[in-house]
Amino acid sequence: MSATPSPSGPVGPLLSVRDLGVTFRTPDGDVRAVDGVSFDLAEGRTLGIVGESGSGKSVTAKALMNLLPSYADVEGTITFDGRDVRALATARERHFWGVELTMVFQDPMTSLNPVKRIGEQIAECLRVHLGRSRRDASAAALDLLERVGIPEPRKRLRQYPHELSGGLRQRVVIAMALACGPRLLIADEPTTALDVTVQKHILDLLDDLRRERGMSMVLITHDLGVVKGRADDVMVMYGGRTMEHAASGPLFTAMRHPYTSALLETIPRIDAAAHARLVPIAGRPPNPSELGPWCPFAPRCGSRVEACTVEAPPLVDDGTGHRSACFAPLGAGEA
Ligand SMILES: Nc1ncnc2c1ncn2[C@@H]1O[C@H](COP(=O)(O)OP(=O)(O)OP(=O)(O)O)[C@@H](O)[C@H]1O
Ligand SMILES: [Mg+2]
Repeated sequence: MSATPSPSGPVGPLLSVRDLGVTFRTPDGDVRAVDGVSFDLAEGRTLGIVGESGSGKSVTAKALMNLLPSYADVEGTITFDGRDVRALATARERHFWGVELTMVFQDPMTSLNPVKRIGEQIAECLRVHLGRSRRDASAAALDLLERVGIPEPRKRLRQYPHELSGGLRQRVVIAMALACGPRLLIADEPTTALDVTVQKHILDLLDDLRRERGMSMVLITHDLGVVKGRADDVMVMYGGRTMEHAASGPLFTAMRHPYTSALLETIPRIDAAAHARLVPIAGRPPNPSELGPWCPFAPRCGSRVEACTVEAPPLVDDGTGHRSACFAPLGAGEA
């Protein structure tokens, strides 16, 4: 069992994940997508999960939502509001998935039925999960569309998903996710498919809704800039593992892991010259079949020492809840 992580504050966690591991048993061999991930999330807080493509962010989220395929072996414990969710046997016990715990995906069409009107789809959530009457559910659907900032909501209720822009579709999906008053919303790259100005509006909307409802949120992105100023805590993943996890302040001002620093270099800066090019991280993220007992970032890491290529550094808490997994952490040479 790894050290208990808790940059999440004094209140007991709403969500607690310990030693989560996910291995896909595929015909081409085993894919170890998530390896020993542990974190806590307190009520009302936002955790940003950040990492490049393939780092295990979505697989972690799907494990929380019980959405992994049957050929995925899952290890570890997931506790939501004190319930060991992996041990719940009956559909009744698992009712909170989709009600108290909901998810917004990158592509809104994943969550929308293309041949059903928007209003019917939102109302259906309310009828199925909360047992609302048809009339109640329709009125609530209208309120929800208004709340997520959809213009002409009455007209939209009668439209089909293809009649809406990508940004409006994602607002509809957020309305559906909110319909049952969730306590935790997992937003997996909710804006990656949208253009830049729409991205900001959607992220701000999620932030407002979270505050207004006291919801907790897991915000998943490949872009550290998205979580800056929005997440209370940030967990940086790479090769299925946690590289660094800290409260947002120290993560940005006193980061320990060279991978976090490399990710930060890839964020566009407002004060940079217009012609300045972003610095991509040299090399490619690892293919899961290339992972070994060593640090997954070692092949691309400028701070690499010999030990990094032999064994994976343990995730160590510095005593303040700031955890990092590195044999040659940044700032280690400073007094
Ligand atoms: N159903 C699956 N079967 C086999 N391998 C999978 C499956 N889903 C994900 N993987 C593998 O697990 C690893 C982690 O994938 P994951 O989708 O969590 O990445 P991610 O961090 O969400 O990346 P992205 O930013 O591209 O969304 C990848 O190597 C991926 O190929
Ligand atoms: Mg993903």
